[in-house]
Amino acid sequence: MFRRDLLFGGAALLGAAGLAHLGSAMAPHGMQELVVQQATYQLRHQQTAGMVSLSSDAPPPVLYGRQGQEMRFTVRNTLDDYTAMHWHGLRIANAMDGVPYLTQMPIGPGEGFAYAFTPPDAGTYWYHPHCMTMEQMAHGLTGVIVIADAEDPGFDSEEVINLRDFRLDAADAFLPAYTARGAARGGTMGNVQTANWRQGPVYDHGAGSLVRLRVVNTDTTRIYRLYLDGGTARIIAWDGHPVSVELPVPRMGAPLLLAPGQRVDLAVVMPVEEGQQVDLMADLPGQPPRLMAGLRAVGSGPKRALAELKSLAQNPLSQPDLDRAELHEFVFGWTPEGNAPNDGFCGTMGYSFWSINRAAWAGDAATGTAPLAVLERGKSYVLRLRNESPNLHPIHLHGLAFVPIASNRRSLPPLWTDTMLLLKDEVIDIALVADNPGDWAFHCHVIEHQKTGLTGFLRVT
Ligand code: C2O
Ligand code: CU
Ligand code: CU
Repeated sequence: MFRRDLLFGGAALLGAAGLAHLGSAMAPHGMQELVVQQATYQLRHQQTAGMVSLSSDAPPPVLYGRQGQEMRFTVRNTLDDYTAMHWHGLRIANAMDGVPYLTQMPIGPGEGFAYAFTPPDAGTYWYHPHCMTMEQMAHGLTGVIVIADAEDPGFDSEEVINLRDFRLDAADAFLPAYTARGAARGGTMGNVQTANWRQGPVYDHGAGSLVRLRVVNTDTTRIYRLYLDGGTARIIAWDGHPVSVELPVPRMGAPLLLAPGQRVDLAVVMPVEEGQQVDLMADLPGQPPRLMAGLRAVGSGPKRALAELKSLAQNPLSQPDLDRAELHEFVFGWTPEGNAPNDGFCGTMGYSFWSINRAAWAGDAATGTAPLAVLERGKSYVLRLRNESPNLHPIHLHGLAFVPIASNRRSLPPLWTDTMLLLKDEVIDIALVADNPGDWAFHCHVIEHQKTGLTGFLRVT
């Protein structure tokens, strides 16, 4: 019997363990309720209706946790569609990973699901649905998770910047988020760029102070080209994990590529003069550089320096043993015009354009889907990721962290990550220890690519 058959047939059984129909009873202590709902918000000039968030009039909040401490959320679905919540980058138990049919049943209208997990790593992560993503993510449901370090590194304050595009018409109503044309190529770009659902917000921080700037690209399509204008800065973490090498601070003319799913943390020294700004800028094709968000110096305080910061404690990652690692290859490319993926309550574009190892994902609810590879728990692996297309793909693996060790196109710093951007015709070897058992989704984070075939999963036994 296939795993999906078990899940389909086992909904009633599962009900006792995880799925619960929730009344209006008070949430148990320590449990935070996340109510997926329709929202209205002014992204640009007028109110935009039909957004999706965790409240009716605000962006999805930053969820705060602490390394090694349990977090509990009940996700309650008040939409007419199904949903499921995923915690991107957190190396948690497979049953809490939020992937429909692979780790849980979709959460139906009026239903809820209780998630409980203990993040092993400090850093910047994020959350988004893994069902009806083309609707719910496109319309706003992408939020940041901050897992605080066990020991404070010594910042005066921090700012979280959630970057994303929306596709709006002249009256600020939603345009169709995705087109088949876009899905078959680089993706359908939004036309309104926002930070925390606002255009170019400016946040006040003490003049001369040390700010931790957490920047997250939660967009479903755009690879942001970002740089800092003003201030002194250092990159301290990448995709959640502290960096152990000196990286160039992105400046005008030498921007940083931040792909959907990726995060960068910067330590920023604010200007000492009141009113001066440190600006996070984006290079957008065919447009002048755009202010995504600004940090404005206010007041007067002690003049801090980057050298005063304690270095971030490393996360408990297992170092792969490259001499013993087994190699697996994955080819990301087109697919011959094939069958439309199976829908199964989680949405489909109705096309298959993309493939992994020449096979398009048959759909989240398809039966009999096999893992792309089976990894033995505790063993080291090298995964060779080959992009056979002219388009860029941010390839994301759930539940495990990995490190790039080689590319045919550039020299890559050894930054631990969960989302690796593959350039045109690029082949990247990544290394990992398969230390977290379960079925882990493995897909492109350009959601149109994911939903038209560029998805699969790895099994760690
Ligand atoms: Cu951001 Cu499958 O995830
Ligand atoms: Cu993920
Ligand atoms: Cu892609």
